[in-house]
Amino acid sequence: MLKNKILVTGGCGYIGSHTLIELLLRTSYNVISIDNLHNSSLKTLERVAAITNKTVKNYAIDLCDATALAQVFDENPDIVGIIHFAALKSVPESVAQPLLYYRNNVVSLLNLLEITQQRNINYFIFSSSCSVYGNVATLPVHENLPLQKAESPYAYTKQVGEEMLKDFVANSPTQVIALRYFNPVGAHVSGLNGEDPRNPPTNLLPIITQTAAGLRKSMTVFGGDYATRDGSCVRDYVHVSDIANAHIIALQYLIDQKNTKNFDIFNLGTGNGITVLEAIEAFEKVTGITLNYIVGERRGGDVAAIYSDTTKSSNLLGWKTEISLDDMMLSAWKWQQQMIKER
Ligand code: NAD
Ligand code: WQD
Repeated sequence: MLKNKILVTGGCGYIGSHTLIELLLRTSYNVISIDNLHNSSLKTLERVAAITNKTVKNYAIDLCDATALAQVFDENPDIVGIIHFAALKSVPESVAQPLLYYRNNVVSLLNLLEITQQRNINYFIFSSSCSVYGNVATLPVHENLPLQKAESPYAYTKQVGEEMLKDFVANSPTQVIALRYFNPVGAHVSGLNGEDPRNPPTNLLPIITQTAAGLRKSMTVFGGDYATRDGSCVRDYVHVSDIANAHIIALQYLIDQKNTKNFDIFNLGTGNGITVLEAIEAFEKVTGITLNYIVGERRGGDVAAIYSDTTKSSNLLGWKTEISLDDMMLSAWKWQQQMIKER
């Protein structure tokens, strides 16, 4: 049997759905999704279909349910690889409900690795996060930097996830890559798919676009007294479609046997640190909208600055970001307007 199917977990979510689009448009794999719709809806797959003219089947099961998971693999014996996005991802929620995060993120990964072993799945790509670095002193952050204490239960689930994968490959033929995303932002360039979570957003870009749309009266820049070039925090914003493409490149890297280790880790960022005020300025420039904002108190738990060293992902994977900060802003704005139209 030719194994030609990729299982995307969290396919109805933000990054998973953009990866479905790239998989459908750029590869010949058959693709299925598992998503329990905890933070998403099936509407996302309609948007994916509108962009790609292809439909994806979603299994609305919880990955913590090993029996239901096994049934999906029974029905799909041709799965060759897994791209595992599904997780809970809110830092403040994880502080409030740590056990929910440990159960969901750790048990779902455990179940997936057990079935990976049982069904001889060759390739596994894991969504990690720059939050694994903790409070770093050295910038830009390189993959070799020793990890600091996780600042939240969410970040700890990603550290644990990476450790589980490292231990797993020691006795398994499966080839694994963990991708540490920095700050994924923006929407598909068509403006037809973007982040549409069930919970109110707390991330900068949706706050900016909601403010621009008048859904919020104003927004606050959290802290203007950091030791950065304009006093606001520095982050590495990276377009979601660039992140999505990295998964396809990473998968192909494993399939082509270009990897020298059976578990490796890569940063996904642009390498450019952008301040909050610069992000606001870029948004105002490309949209012509003046944002109503104040510079307020620092937000608890924020680091002053973090951005990625991109040498490894560029040299080994050959991945380079293609979408500029201006286009990140423009796509996010297009998507905000599309969401208003849809409601
Ligand atoms: P998202 O919430 O939009 O998507 C995750 C999807 O997984 C959701 O649709 C949710 O319903 C589903 N899901 C969660 N738990 C599940 C379970 N137990 N069983 C089945 N489905 C489940 O999040 P996203 O922004 O697309 O993030 C995808 C991955 O990337 C996550 O692992 C996240 O931790 C990681 N990540 C995200 C960011 C970011 O800023 N968006 C940054 C770094 C890492
Ligand atoms: C970006 C900057 C805020 C809202 C989070 C997770 C991290 C990773 C990516 C998953 C910060 C500032 C924000 C606002 C503001 N996710 N801000 N006003 O905190 O860098 O990273 O998402 O793995 O783990 O922690 O992203 O978008 O919340 O904030 O000034 O209303 O924007 O202080 O400097 P963050 P963010």
